[in-house]
Amino acid sequence: MRTLLNTTLCLALAATAVTGCKKDDDKPTPTTPAPTPTLYQRLGGTTMVNDPANPGQMIETGYLGLRSVVDSTIFVIAGDAQLQPYFAVLLAEVGGGDLTGFAALSESLTEFFAVACGAQNFTYTGMNMVDAHNSMNPRMTGLVTDEDFDRFIVDLVAGAAQNDVPADIVTDIGALVETLRDPIVQQ
Ligand code: HEM
Repeated sequence: MRTLLNTTLCLALAATAVTGCKKDDDKPTPTTPAPTPTLYQRLGGTTMVNDPANPGQMIETGYLGLRSVVDSTIFVIAGDAQLQPYFAVLLAEVGGGDLTGFAALSESLTEFFAVACGAQNFTYTGMNMVDAHNSMNPRMTGLVTDEDFDRFIVDLVAGAAQNDVPADIVTDIGALVETLRDPIVQQ
């Protein structure tokens, strides 16, 4: 009888020990906080959608959003007397019905912004920001001033507004663009 009692006690203790151990396992394991989404993810990221400009082709939502903003911004700039002189080469081409320079700038600018916003599936292969905005770039007609950089941001915000980009994303793109003032403004 004593042996049976001892065995029962031992089993009970063992069960408690096991349960105790299980309790430890149930403790919430410390989780690493979810990473802050990149600007690219906030713009829709890699979710594939139909490309409205190329029927039958798919495009990442983030890239489409940025391309839409870039294209709208180029049109805003084209109508902006303050910035038009910088884009004389481009505007002369477009005026003559040649859209190759426009398409190249659209792609180059969009790739630049996509990479800067955290896109993983794109690369920027254009000139660095210093060379793209001085005489190393034969399509650049003069050095950008601080005032004209400010104006570029105004036009970019207008381009974003035309595409209903949420205000918090516009603010963060504005902050990103501001980090480029130094290499781009060269006088
Ligand atoms: C954050 C702001 C800006 C970014 C990210 C940016 C980016 C770029 C990029 C990627 C290119 C193409 C480079 C290549 O073809 O390899 C470019 C070209 C150019 N940029 Fe900017 N840029 C900015 C601001 C400005 C400003 C403020 C001006 C003038 C007011 C300007 C004027 C130009 C011009 C005239 C070209 C050549 C356009 C053409 O292809 O005909 N950019 N820029």
